[in-house]
Amino acid sequence: MKILHIDSSALGTYSVSRQLTADIVAELKRAAPDAVVDYHDLAAQPLAHWTPVADAADPAAVLGNKVLEDFLGADVVVVGAPMYNFTISSQLKAWLDRVLVAGKTFRYTANGPEGLAGGKRVIVASSRGGFYGKDSAGAAMDFQEPYLRAAFAFIGIGEVEFVRAEGLAVGDEHKSTALKSAQDAIHTLVAEAA
Ligand SMILES: Cc1cc2nc3c(=O)[nH]c(=O)nc-3n(C[C@H](O)[C@H](O)[C@H](O)COP(=O)(O)O)c2cc1C
Repeated sequence: MKILHIDSSALGTYSVSRQLTADIVAELKRAAPDAVVDYHDLAAQPLAHWTPVADAADPAAVLGNKVLEDFLGADVVVVGAPMYNFTISSQLKAWLDRVLVAGKTFRYTANGPEGLAGGKRVIVASSRGGFYGKDSAGAAMDFQEPYLRAAFAFIGIGEVEFVRAEGLAVGDEHKSTALKSAQDAIHTLVAEAA
């Protein structure tokens, strides 16, 4: 099994999503010790904004292809997604711009778009300062989780699993509770699939 582990938080060791993706990958490895992990830190090594490249030997094209190949070759993709201004980080968006590629992960047909990257498991660790649950006042401002669901569904991955730590800005006590509850969810999620 190949695991692609992606982090995109700018908060380094203070990052909750980094902690959660590390926990998810550790649980996956416990369940499948032979799994190979490929790690990309999109904050430490940010991808440039996507630009058109005519020459396949251009370093931007080579890097873009590598990102895409790493994604296509993974069985499980673990994505750290902090909420920044109601959506994903620009680092993660730059990664998605290399993953959602016409002719590679989706194609347009006479019957509409068709995803080509199905069959992978995608687990997103979502961290946010406020609350955006279904019945909360913030729900209408959540352009992070619905966006990620739509983007992955578009390329054929309809069942994205989310581990959420919310209300992290409320205070230390709440942060610990949110973290603990996310870690319990990780345990259940990996155990159920094993
Ligand atoms: C630039 C920036 C923008 C943020 N915007 C939001 C936001 O719109 N809504 C929210 O609930 N939290 C927001 N936060 C708080 C983060 O979601 C929270 O700190 C979360 O823990 C970030 O994930 P991380 O700990 O993995 O970095 C923002 C934080 C930063 C640094």
